[in-house]
Amino acid sequence: MEKIPVACIILAAGKGTRMQSALPKVMHKIAGRTMIAHVLHNVSALAPVKLISVIAEDMKLVEQEVKKNFSTAEIAIQKEQLGTAHATKAAVQYLQNFSGITLILYGDTPLITAASLQKMISEIETSKAAVVVLGMRVSDHDNKYGRLLVDAKGNLQRIVEYKDATSQQREIELCNSGVMAISTDKLLRWLEMIENNNAKKEYYLTDIVAIATTEGEKCCVVEADAQELMGVNTRLELAQAYHILQNRLRHQAMLQGVTMIAPETVHISADIKFGCDIIIEPNVWLGDAVVVEDNVTIKAFSYLEGAVVKRGAVVGPYARLRAGTVIGEGCKIGNFVELKKAAVDTGAKISHLSYIGDAHIGEYANIGAGTITCNYDGYDKHHTDIGRYAFIGSNTALISPVVVGDGAIIGAGSVISEDVESDALSMTRVEQQHKQGWAKEFRRKKRN
Ligand code: UD1
Ligand code: CA
Repeated sequence: MEKIPVACIILAAGKGTRMQSALPKVMHKIAGRTMIAHVLHNVSALAPVKLISVIAEDMKLVEQEVKKNFSTAEIAIQKEQLGTAHATKAAVQYLQNFSGITLILYGDTPLITAASLQKMISEIETSKAAVVVLGMRVSDHDNKYGRLLVDAKGNLQRIVEYKDATSQQREIELCNSGVMAISTDKLLRWLEMIENNNAKKEYYLTDIVAIATTEGEKCCVVEADAQELMGVNTRLELAQAYHILQNRLRHQAMLQGVTMIAPETVHISADIKFGCDIIIEPNVWLGDAVVVEDNVTIKAFSYLEGAVVKRGAVVGPYARLRAGTVIGEGCKIGNFVELKKAAVDTGAKISHLSYIGDAHIGEYANIGAGTITCNYDGYDKHHTDIGRYAFIGSNTALISPVVVGDGAIIGAGSVISEDVESDALSMTRVEQQHKQGWAKEFRRKKRN
């Protein structure tokens, strides 16, 4: 069968007043990714030939976010928010010469999978329906979704919004997710016929189903899991969506070869990249832009963001890896170690209580407990370079910019402000003094 081209419209002009936020609703993040970016990622798997995002006039932030995640997207401005059909009308200027299926999605339904969207498109291709709506079963009769009214044959007749529904209609468990696939020429014509005589005085996109049915066209429902189709209108729903997405991400990770001892305590950002044979202990935070390669162990209570951990490395417990950090193969990063913009080469060890920032650590170097790079002078950041096989004694302060050569040894407790040659021993230390019997005499005086 010939593939019908697909265009996507994503509605995101609503202010989202129920979020109680200065930020547009679709800019709120779930697992490190904005809601609108989630939607854009999900639809990109369908390779739509056109994508139009509808936003309000004062939503520059949303426009930038859309362009960042989908470079060929068109932006349509809906000046006043008069409903979902009104919003769709703002987008159709970009569809005048397009013939194919238009998929309309809402920016506040971030968890939808490409598989469900694909099911809708297949349904429209095979059943020749004019409209396919993505539905879900929700048993709570107080839920605020629109209800799908189907006839005995299972064909969709009409969508009733919650506010307009009778108490009997509210008992219907089949609800509207908001996603609709519709043949584009019909969409353009039917949009003109939608009126606003309803409880909210809005132009409802959902009214298109009744119009299609009246014209004798077929409308169908494709069902998907309610968790996947949840709409986010409040911060409570934002937290629920986060919970659902975390379960999904952890599930995928485990199936892919990541062992989690207490998966429910591990946070994973949506853009995580995992290898296999990884062990993640409880209470680990894997924030944005983290890559974890094969055979890595991340021990309990570690916090990672913007970091790459290469094969066989061990991180934590209680390690903090900040943006720009690359941990080389087989490295060991121990407890209470903070790394920022640090490239740590193969086999190097930073086992306890250190801050290493704006630094390069050569392979197999050993950084003793309590070593600190003093990288900031209050105005600028400076670099520290430590050579291969270098040994930095415990409690060393490295005043950057500074270079420690390959194989050099730094005596414990040193303050290193000048470069150290390869294979040299360098230390800064006040000579130790001895006063025999002093302590005993001291105690005697104090007792009297
Ligand atoms: C909508 C559906 C409802 C469905 C629910 C699923 C309608 C009339 N109702 O209700 O049947 O069960 O979603 O989550 O479609 N928007 C605009 N411009 C507007 C109004 C809305 O762009 O003028 C956008 C919003 O930014 C949002 C989406 O459309 O992304 C849905 O709007 P919202 O007000 O959240 O609709 P619901 O009441 O949730
Ligand atoms: Ca909504």
